[in-house]
Amino acid sequence: MPVISAPYAFNESRLFVDLRSIVGHPLYLKCEGFNFAGSIKLKAANEMVTAAERQGILTRDSILVESSSGNLGVALSMIAASKGYRFLCVTDSRCNLSTRLLMEALGSEVHVIAEMNVDTGFLGARLDYVRELCASDDRYVWLSQYTNPGNWLAHYRTTAPEIADEFPRLDVLFIGAGTTGTLMGCARYFREHSPSVRIVAVDSVGSVAFGGEPGRRMIPGLGMSMRPPLLDESFVDEVIKVEEADTIRTCHRLARSGFLFGGSTGTVVSGAVDWLNRNDTRGITAVAVAPDLGERYLDTIYQTNWLQDLYGDQVLDSGARTTVASSGPRGRAAPHGRDRRGGGAGRV
Ligand SMILES: Cc1ncc(COP(=O)(O)O)c(C=O)c1O
Repeated sequence: MPVISAPYAFNESRLFVDLRSIVGHPLYLKCEGFNFAGSIKLKAANEMVTAAERQGILTRDSILVESSSGNLGVALSMIAASKGYRFLCVTDSRCNLSTRLLMEALGSEVHVIAEMNVDTGFLGARLDYVRELCASDDRYVWLSQYTNPGNWLAHYRTTAPEIADEFPRLDVLFIGAGTTGTLMGCARYFREHSPSVRIVAVDSVGSVAFGGEPGRRMIPGLGMSMRPPLLDESFVDEVIKVEEADTIRTCHRLARSGFLFGGSTGTVVSGAVDWLNRNDTRGITAVAVAPDLGERYLDTIYQTNWLQDLYGDQVLDSGARTTVASSGPRGRAAPHGRDRRGGGAGRV
């Protein structure tokens, strides 16, 4: 029986769901939502705060400030409350209401940016605001998840070894890309310890993280309106881009089997299923990472009016399926690959 005295001391991240009966492919989903922050961001938050304390950057008078689409903000709120720091989260109007309320309940201040920068989007507007704050008062300490090496180191030290321990014969790993902390930590670990593991990044259509045209994205977590500073594409074998409508359908399909996951999990699973549809999966071991759970998305992804307003009346029709664009492979053949063409013929 674990007994804890600090909320960040508990994290059940060795739980995997076998999705074969739901998606028709061998795919294990690593669940990262079972901690008091409710998401994978607890790991990055812990690592970055501990490093800042070690380096003497964080003191009793400090005010932590961070730009977050929500989950890192919740994790930092929890850690700040527990350790006695003040925390100001700068988010934007796509942040779920429940996530904002959660941060406030934990004692944080939340600033919501309502207007995007015409060139750099919401993210650019959030970062401009954080920079102005830091310039205005020395007490602000910006951990900067977009550039902080602690963000990827957290996953190099925990997420990747947790997967390798459970699946020593892993063939392919699917990871969603936001700041790319999870992606880069896992990719660097496997390149060093098991270089045959194929690393597939999953991004949203409309994100420019790996290039391409910017477009509307309403689901927080994955995707970036700039190139992620932490990203080194030489560690990534393939990139799959998923339409938000497919994300939604996958979330609902998992929910109808009793698994209520967040939006980015729908994206990652949708991309993984597309890849598995296009490759020979005989004897393959595939893992995908689920960054959070679905309760924070009840008023968006799991709410009919929100869905229909944004994606149309047909979004949940079982026959509907938009394409998934795939790029790569980047220099390495897919395991058992029989079809390397892009385009999604599959259905989740
Ligand atoms: C729900 C969710 N999924 C995925 C991600 C992306 O993770 P990373 O920033 O490590 O790329 C985030 C990041 O905030 C997230 O909140």
